[in-house]
Amino acid sequence: MSEAHPPSPSASAEAAALSRRGAGTLRSADEGSVVKLQAWVHRRRNLGKLLFLDLRDRSGIAQVVVEPDDAPEVAETLAASRAEWVVEVIGRVAPRDAVNEEMATGAVEVVATEARVLSRADLPPFTPAEKTDTSEVLRLKHRYLELRRPELQSNFILRSRVTQEILAFFHEHDFLNLETPILTRSTPEGARDYLVPSRIHHGSFYALPQSPQLFKQLFMVSGFERYVQIARCFRDEDLRADRQPEFTQVDVEMSFVEPEEIQQLIETLFVRIFALAGIEVETPFPRLSYQEAMLRYGIDRPDLRFGCEIQELSELTAESSFRAFSSTVADGGVVRGFVIPGGASASRKVLDSWVEVARSRGAAGALWLRRKEGEELAFQVKSLPVEEVEALGAALAVEEGDLALIVAASETIAADALGTLRLHVAKERDLIPEARHAFCWVEDFPLFLYDEEEGRWDSVHHPFTSPRPEDWAQREENPGAVRSLAYDVVYNGLELGGGSIRIHQREVQQEVFALLGIDEAEAESRFGFLLEALRYGAPPHGGIALGLDRLVMVLAGATSLRDVIAFPKTANGTCLMTEAPSPVDEVQLEELGLATRPKAGSESEEG
Ligand code: AMO
Repeated sequence: MSEAHPPSPSASAEAAALSRRGAGTLRSADEGSVVKLQAWVHRRRNLGKLLFLDLRDRSGIAQVVVEPDDAPEVAETLAASRAEWVVEVIGRVAPRDAVNEEMATGAVEVVATEARVLSRADLPPFTPAEKTDTSEVLRLKHRYLELRRPELQSNFILRSRVTQEILAFFHEHDFLNLETPILTRSTPEGARDYLVPSRIHHGSFYALPQSPQLFKQLFMVSGFERYVQIARCFRDEDLRADRQPEFTQVDVEMSFVEPEEIQQLIETLFVRIFALAGIEVETPFPRLSYQEAMLRYGIDRPDLRFGCEIQELSELTAESSFRAFSSTVADGGVVRGFVIPGGASASRKVLDSWVEVARSRGAAGALWLRRKEGEELAFQVKSLPVEEVEALGAALAVEEGDLALIVAASETIAADALGTLRLHVAKERDLIPEARHAFCWVEDFPLFLYDEEEGRWDSVHHPFTSPRPEDWAQREENPGAVRSLAYDVVYNGLELGGGSIRIHQREVQQEVFALLGIDEAEAESRFGFLLEALRYGAPPHGGIALGLDRLVMVLAGATSLRDVIAFPKTANGTCLMTEAPSPVDEVQLEELGLATRPKAGSESEEG
């Protein structure tokens, strides 16, 4: 409970007549003028003869000074104030004796002539002024307090500007800003749905949209031609620093369009919004096929800020006397490797840790080939003939001081193990030029990928993605060889967005469903409305969705989505502030026709 305090006096006529000034906006040019600040007490220093306060609002921080001899009442009011109280101060802007170069307002201070308290605060669990090591739990529980921190404030100010700029851009390019439903049917994007039970139709559920995909396609069928929406999406999936269960897309769709036009549009947009963060973007972005990305970087969202490209060694090692190489190639696998500049100095322990990384991705291990300073090229397996060692060294271009890591495995495992190692080693050895901004498009993804566990073909993007027409004939005998008209935009190894040209022919859509193992009845029940719409003059169309949270995260130089989502969820999907998700009362369940069961394996069931 707060202590009891007398009500604050009302403002003087002079104070009431003044308009409020942002604390962070004061500059030398304001010297001599009288200003009114209404802000939070960020810090206080009472030097007896002088009282200093840093007042903070959204615009920044200003220093206020009170001279008790000249203004005893003001001094009394402000001396009683504490961190995070909200106060009003009237005063004259004066030059500071000691200029603070670190602060935008550091050349001036406000000499207070009038003050009143607008709102008191209990002792907060942490204050925005502290460089806090307060636990994340406490910070998320009091998120509104954490959001007062100047760093977070500037992230959200940036987020607002970015959103405005994006909408202005699309408006200028003749897009309509349209809304799509939140209570809807499942739109598959590869995650689980959040479900909302219907009170009126017991046993029936709405699904929250994983994306507005189907609705934006229907907008094209409706003839809107160009659509954009800042759209909230919901996906019940495992969370990471770059994934939240509830996130925002810049969702775009266009009719009569080719991939190139969409890619150019997004590049132009990026030039404009990265400029908001002072980042110059070079266009056009390099285009890589999926196959090339997987071969050279072992991942479909390559970080192009640094080299260490993976090289194909299968042909070279097909006849190797080292059985691990030759038999892998004979069995249809691959031998690949990459060079770590300066890597020859890595200790045995470090090498072992790299082997562990390869193992954690399913490879049997990773072998090194190195040329230590002043020494001959050496391969980990001593029995390999010198000429084979030399040939490997030449193929990989291992220079003095370098070390190469080589993996022999199935193509999928080798790509993944080497891709993971490449990133791991580059981070560990500081090989990534952090100041670079490397964009690229990855395209020509396969339309389908075989899911070994489920024993069926799955969409790489979503089932509405168009195949490349020239590949479509192969769908029966070799579905894996059919490429799609999909493209992802990648920045420094982070997928910022993805899109595609869509299927606009009903027969093709039906065939894709069939290839995915969705039979006619199921296709009709889940996507009947789409198939029906495709009967009535659907224009060719395509689009893209950008992850707005990820975009703002990189623009803000943040490393977690939590720094750019105002009220984020924790890694296990809870909101610590509101304590969502939470149980609901029996009456509500009854109305919905629902009963809950304890989770299988939970204590309550065991007990
Ligand atoms: P996709 O599933 O690739 O495509 O999503 C588009 C972009 O949204 C962002 N994103 C996320 N951001 C934060 N948390 C998440 N859980 C999350 N999941 C995705 C990523 C991603 O690139 N309907 C298609 C788009 C289209 O085809 O037009 C879609 O949703 O930045």
